[in-house]
Amino acid sequence: MLGIIFTNLVEMIETTISYEMADEILEEANLSSDGIFTSVGHYPLEDVVEIVTLLSQKTEIPPDDLIFAFGKYLFVKLIEGHKHIVRPDADLFDLLAELDSNIHVEVLKLYPNATLPTFTVVKREKEMIDMIYQSPRQLETLASGLIHGGAEYFKTEVTVNMNVLETSPYRVQLTVKKT
Ligand code: HEM
Repeated sequence: MLGIIFTNLVEMIETTISYEMADEILEEANLSSDGIFTSVGHYPLEDVVEIVTLLSQKTEIPPDDLIFAFGKYLFVKLIEGHKHIVRPDADLFDLLAELDSNIHVEVLKLYPNATLPTFTVVKREKEMIDMIYQSPRQLETLASGLIHGGAEYFKTEVTVNMNVLETSPYRVQLTVKKT
């Protein structure tokens, strides 16, 4: 996983809980990086899992809820840092439809060692999109959080339905509808 994911995860813990909580977790966690991340570095997915597991134990919030909340937090951070990637007139559904053909393509140019999921659009209407998320990292809850973060950013309300289609390769159908 790219360091940008880690720096934002640590920042979310610092700003929404406390600096002490973030320090405690980074000290206790058994991380490959000693808890020092740079945004363009690359670190194992297991390190995210380790941080989220410890955070879950300390806050008694289920890991999935934390990953969802992180996705919501992360969306704004990613957009703020990469505004040029998104068309100024795009709405949430345009952005989702262009994840594979534009957004993540641009991300790969910036961070050639990024490990990205694929999103295949199955059906697109003005206020609805049906797509298939595929990734061995199985982070559809993060995707759902990112989509909800995007909905907040674009001042719209949506529901996201997830349906695991297959486990190998790991494929999940995501249906996003405006409410
Ligand atoms: C709602 C919109 C988005 C969704 C649903 C989405 C989904 C995801 C997911 C689920 C991952 C985790 C990797 C995996 O599952 O295999 C990911 C990684 C990533 N995404 Fe997106 N993304 C969105 C928008 C964006 C935007 C706007 C940017 C930046 C302009 C961005 C940049 C990245 C980066 C840098 C990574 C990390 C790759 C790595 O760790 O190597 N994403 N995205």
